[in-house]
Amino acid sequence: MPWVPCDPPLPPVNTGRPKITSATAPPSALQPHELGSTDESIVVLRRTFDELGDLFRIHVPSRGTSTWVASHPDDVKHVLVTNHRNYTKGVGIDRVRLLLGRGIMTSEGEFWRRQRRMMQPAFHRRVIERYASIVREENESLGAEWSAAAHGTGSVNVTLSVSRLALRIILRALFDDDLRQLVTDLDHNPFVAILQGARRDTRFAYEFRQLAREVKALVAIRRARPQGRFDLLQLLLDARDADTGETMSDAEVVDEVMTLVVAGHETTASTLNWTWWLLATHPAVAMRLAEEQYAVGDLGLASYADLIRLPYTRQVVDESMRLYPPGWLLTRRSIGPDTLGGHAVPPGTDVFISPYLVHRHPQHWSLPETFDPGHFDPAQVEARHAFAYIPFAAGPRHCIGQNFSLYEILLHCNLAVRRFQLTDPQPVQPALEARINLRTAGDVHMRIEQR
Ligand code: HEM
Repeated sequence: MPWVPCDPPLPPVNTGRPKITSATAPPSALQPHELGSTDESIVVLRRTFDELGDLFRIHVPSRGTSTWVASHPDDVKHVLVTNHRNYTKGVGIDRVRLLLGRGIMTSEGEFWRRQRRMMQPAFHRRVIERYASIVREENESLGAEWSAAAHGTGSVNVTLSVSRLALRIILRALFDDDLRQLVTDLDHNPFVAILQGARRDTRFAYEFRQLAREVKALVAIRRARPQGRFDLLQLLLDARDADTGETMSDAEVVDEVMTLVVAGHETTASTLNWTWWLLATHPAVAMRLAEEQYAVGDLGLASYADLIRLPYTRQVVDESMRLYPPGWLLTRRSIGPDTLGGHAVPPGTDVFISPYLVHRHPQHWSLPETFDPGHFDPAQVEARHAFAYIPFAAGPRHCIGQNFSLYEILLHCNLAVRRFQLTDPQPVQPALEARINLRTAGDVHMRIEQR
């Protein structure tokens, strides 16, 4: 995508919606599609949204039913928050259960509630700041690698670099020094396999699951030598159910750890990857971002408050996740009857919400297709429907790692933006790979210069 100067924002939009009540179903796409299971799903969703609007159905032959796709922020709020108790996670979760076992991403009901309650304190802002030195050290390693590239080939594989960065941060946050021990014992880091599987298919899921053995070994080491540790694994092992005083079994801890490795790595890596590509193709934004970072200097072991105080950096990251939300498809299934957009939803209906569509909804965004951090100017945020922006979902099942990832991304910006300038030698929009996460279909290589 060539660089496009930002057009002036349009006047505030009308977010209201006419009230209709209808026993009939919403309009249906003419063509059936295996929604969510094909590489074309995102294209089909986009095309159908352009044709049919806020609420439509697509027949899914393998399930023999129609999936509803809701994109109006009122419906987003209704499904994810107001009436969330009427929805399970549905089909999307069947796809990732092989990967994540019974971790909190896939579990439901009372078991999910218990696990979430026990894990929540580990993701508090104050706790996350304690990973500052890990985030910093790993960015220093990346800085050394990028510096060598800038003085050498002048080019860098950004996708691989940021993927490695995010993986190493979550692994060290989880296992602290035990990871180093495991790597020494095995003579390699078994988790590196995650970086090597380019496709996120069933074979990848099977290979990833083999890593559960290594996690089990790390849990056993920790149970034998628990003293004085601070990391996510220890927080999980020490967590107690407030009602019963129970702790998690080893199997439960293993599934939660596997969940955090997957959920905590690829999403963050994808945001960093897209952000660097967007900056490379929008020099005016990149310059303004660098100016903000120069003005504040090296924030050292920054607190969360230090980082979110950098308004333009946060706007850039928010805008990147608007255009390319890693969690691009949220799947839900209704338990009992419901009403959406005035239409009666039968029990057992698959209802999908795509943040990719919601974030490009022309009634809620002044320049839906343009990369413009101005979309997150306070006045625009104030005027917009609160549920028009949902990169971390919303309601009780919103992302537990939201603070963790924002801290990691914003600190990376502080450490890397002042040192490096990345440009795209062939500014062509990377193809989308919309599977579990929304990624670039291939690795993005960029020209790199040290500032
Ligand atoms: C840019 C980074 C990230 C994005 C965009 C993101 C997005 C999301 C979204 C959209 C969901 C909801 C999925 C659904 O309802 O179907 C979610 C859930 C979740 N995320 Fe994240 N995530 C990110 C980073 C992280 C990190 C760093 C961690 C852990 C360290 C994490 C752990 C989780 C977990 C465990 C859940 C399931 C929560 C539950 O169901 O109770 N995420 N994430």
